[in-house]
Amino acid sequence: MDKKYYYDLEKKLNFEDVLLDALPNPIYYKDVKGDFIRCNTRFSELTNTCKKEIIGKSAYEFFPKSAADRNKLIDKEIMKTLQPYEDEVHFIMDNGEVRYYNLSKAVCLDKAGVVKGIVCIMTDITQRIKEKEILIQQSKFAEMGEMIASIAHQWNEPLVELSAQVQKMELFYSTNQMDKKKVSDFVSNSMIPIQYMSETLNDFRNFLKPSTIKEEFDLKKAISEIFDIVGKQIFYFNIKINFDYRNDEDFFIVGYKNQLKQVMLNIINNAKNKIITAYEERKFDGIITIRLTNTDNLSIIEIIDNAGPIKEDIIDQIFDPFFTTKENGTGFGLYMAKTIIEDKMSGKIAVRNDGENVIFSIKIPKTKKS
Ligand SMILES: Nc1ncnc2c1ncn2[C@@H]1O[C@H](COP(=O)(O)OP(=O)(O)O)[C@@H](O)[C@H]1O
Ligand SMILES: [Mg+2]
Repeated sequence: MDKKYYYDLEKKLNFEDVLLDALPNPIYYKDVKGDFIRCNTRFSELTNTCKKEIIGKSAYEFFPKSAADRNKLIDKEIMKTLQPYEDEVHFIMDNGEVRYYNLSKAVCLDKAGVVKGIVCIMTDITQRIKEKEILIQQSKFAEMGEMIASIAHQWNEPLVELSAQVQKMELFYSTNQMDKKKVSDFVSNSMIPIQYMSETLNDFRNFLKPSTIKEEFDLKKAISEIFDIVGKQIFYFNIKINFDYRNDEDFFIVGYKNQLKQVMLNIINNAKNKIITAYEERKFDGIITIRLTNTDNLSIIEIIDNAGPIKEDIIDQIFDPFFTTKENGTGFGLYMAKTIIEDKMSGKIAVRNDGENVIFSIKIPKTKKS
């Protein structure tokens, strides 16, 4: 009798192993202490360890401490709430490649309802993340024309300065006034505009870099970096920038810095272009306001222009892909803004009219770094 029981049990376990190994997802089962009890081949491949070596050990043996700490915290929480949990994690593989996984966790209870452990099914979402990243990168190119115009503009003055320096050298030489001091003055006076030009290029290069890892960053600094790139051009078009936030208040955000900069840049460019078009028809003082506020759980960024409201019949469509009212528009900027803020940073982006003003608001939840 016993023999048959164990035979049947083994058959059942063998069947489950075959089943688990046939699935493309890494799967594991942990006890309440957090030690692995069982896993499939995909999980053992992910940890680069054979199954036998994994059993009885904890996540700390296979993953970075920060990831294991986070895991432990989540496990503790769901063993209390008994609710299933979804999380996103990334691993840096031995070959340096970053892979992204979605984790679905659920608590296992025995017949008496006592918590026995946690099952976790991992889904590789690297492809999906990368595809979205490509879209976001592409949409940066939509803003690139404006940025190049802005760099060209910013290079104008230092180039004039530099050519004046060069011409002065020729004059000194032909009038025999050349000496060591003149040469060293020439070098240091020329290095200033050269340095400035190289900084503007660096700003641009940083903006083009993809940002795929969440980081904590200073919002005020990010905004000043945006205006390092486009500020001069806005100034040139006679548009006033009004920074409306308290200097003694901190604004820190956990998220994708470059991508948030990209979102803000698109909204600012939209506002700038609308003001320039409006200037052709009437006289007024174009103002773009950047307002930052904090609530207990949100960082709120508002970007406001005063060049006239959005028509009510299109206001619900402006975040749709390819919706544009401009002859040469792409209709891609605000759609990408929504993707970045809402899908990637769990925030909210919205627009509303307020008299002559259009207010774009971005709300980002204050979370701890994951
Ligand atoms: N500040 C604004 N004021 C009025 N309308 C705006 C503003 N920003 C965007 N829009 C509207 O939303 C549309 C979509 O914007 P966007 O997605 O950036 O694409 P594009 O700039 O290529 O048109 C614009 O064509 C315009 O009609
Ligand atoms: Mg746009």
